[in-house]
Amino acid sequence: MSNIGSYDNRLHDFSWKIAEQELGYRPGDTINIGWYCSDRICQLGKADKIALIWEGHDENSTRTYSFNDIRILSNTIGAFLRNLGIHDGDRVCLFMDKIPELYIGLLGILKIGAVVQPLFSAFGDESLFIRLENAGTKAILTTRQHAPKIQKILATLPDLQYIILVDDDGTKALKAKEIAFSLDRALPVEHLDVFPTKAESPSLLHYTSGTTGQPKGVKHVHYSLISQYLTAKWALDLQEDDLYWCTADPGWVTGTSYGIIGPWSLGITQCVKDSGFSAETWYRFIEKHKISMWYSAPTAIRSLMKAGDNLVKRFDLSSLRHLASVGEPLNAEAVVWSEKVIGKPFHDTYWQTETGSIMISNFPGMKIKPGSMGKVFPGLTAALLDPDTFEIITEVNKPGLIAFQFDWPARLRTYWKNEETFQKKFRNGWYLTGDRSTIDQDGYFWFIGRDDDVINTVGHLVSPFEVESALLEHKAVAESAVVAKPDEVNMEVVKAFITLKPGFVASDELELEIMNFIRKKLSPLAMPQEIEYVDTLPKTRSGKIMRRLLHAKEWGEDTGDLSTLEND
Ligand code: WTA
Repeated sequence: MSNIGSYDNRLHDFSWKIAEQELGYRPGDTINIGWYCSDRICQLGKADKIALIWEGHDENSTRTYSFNDIRILSNTIGAFLRNLGIHDGDRVCLFMDKIPELYIGLLGILKIGAVVQPLFSAFGDESLFIRLENAGTKAILTTRQHAPKIQKILATLPDLQYIILVDDDGTKALKAKEIAFSLDRALPVEHLDVFPTKAESPSLLHYTSGTTGQPKGVKHVHYSLISQYLTAKWALDLQEDDLYWCTADPGWVTGTSYGIIGPWSLGITQCVKDSGFSAETWYRFIEKHKISMWYSAPTAIRSLMKAGDNLVKRFDLSSLRHLASVGEPLNAEAVVWSEKVIGKPFHDTYWQTETGSIMISNFPGMKIKPGSMGKVFPGLTAALLDPDTFEIITEVNKPGLIAFQFDWPARLRTYWKNEETFQKKFRNGWYLTGDRSTIDQDGYFWFIGRDDDVINTVGHLVSPFEVESALLEHKAVAESAVVAKPDEVNMEVVKAFITLKPGFVASDELELEIMNFIRKKLSPLAMPQEIEYVDTLPKTRSGKIMRRLLHAKEWGEDTGDLSTLEND
């Protein structure tokens, strides 16, 4: 029996009070995600239940942590930060691979009322700088491997006071602002005064990319727990005996909302694999730990499909009970394939960094229409709006902009230091997601595409603006335009068109050099997979580069009405 039971019944008697009551929260109470994900679970009698089964690259590196371990270790990190003078409201960045300290550190930071800023460990110095500067980050928890990227930009970050190396054995010399810390060697802190955060106290700052301007810091609050708890329960169907694997990295929102907060607030055991993708490694991980609930992403699923059906047969995947996916369009073939070959279909879910929790989903027990994102979560009011008039579209199967009434607990509260851009997300009282879809006669959403130029590669958003700006910093590049290029597995990849400065000659070596330049500066995700040298870039009369034209060409689409662009 699924947690949600009958979707239709839930629609009728829905109230977020259901989650509030289950969590023992009353309006006006303190609410601290760090406490809810550890101390409360222990109070419920599950102190000895396993919270985390962690495995590194090496299969024999498994470590397990009970909820009581998580409680004490997050206290320990919290106390350490508090002793350094970190206060409620201060921004503390987590910048490391998927090691236990990342998961436990998140709770520790929240417990002292500070704001977690998770950043993807593959970010290069430029990506880091933009985000740390914007957030005015006071401390960063990282590892020896990643610290040099911070040292490189330290002089330009006056607010950054501490670089805390969580894997330091105390034997190596420390550089400027570095402090060594080890969870294994620190004195365990049994009791910590958890900061009495309230519903609207800030909790997390996730950076997300837009078409123009710098990345935006999406501000979330502790009350988001209400949505994350109930969606993890009803949409992901997490159940008491589950062994849950969320493949997302907590540098991105899926890895925090459903890789930490949702499951642990429900007292669920989760498994983490800190290694890159390989179909074989993934199947073995499922088999070894008897994973029952698996939350992943379309690119990974397509890569598994590509690895072939025979590989699947070599593993016992019978522990899998429920599968779900997020982040990019989940094509119908992938759903059909997983049902046929793995024995269970992937249930697509749709949401955003900004929404903080699942908005649309194929709920367990509900008929899956392969290729559809599913139906709206109970309690949410969704509509499609006409792109020109922003009126509600009532016609079935007519494309429109996905919009929501802005009233669910996990909604973003603003963009950090960028209220102006936040306000632009609204039209006629509706929150605009920036995505387009249709709704069929049964209320199922069918994704069409984004309404902007942001590139969704491997389920991660990359801003063409950020890549173009970084490209211009290369000595050979005069002008650049960056668009998405279709890709069979990754759905989209980054493609750059560039013109060269006088004295530079197009060559394969230069292409590689520029690619590496971006990989190091921004991240492997943002690195163009292809660079096309051009003599000129198409521009409007006012000199704006016509990205739309280049994009349309890449996708073999009609280039649209060029006259409007010419006069832009
Ligand atoms: C896209 C990730 C199609 C969409 C949780 C959205 C999807 C953006 C789906 C958010 C889906 C997410 N089908 N597209 N099921 N889920 N997207 O902020 O464009 O990294 O706006 O949050 O990913 O990406 P973000």
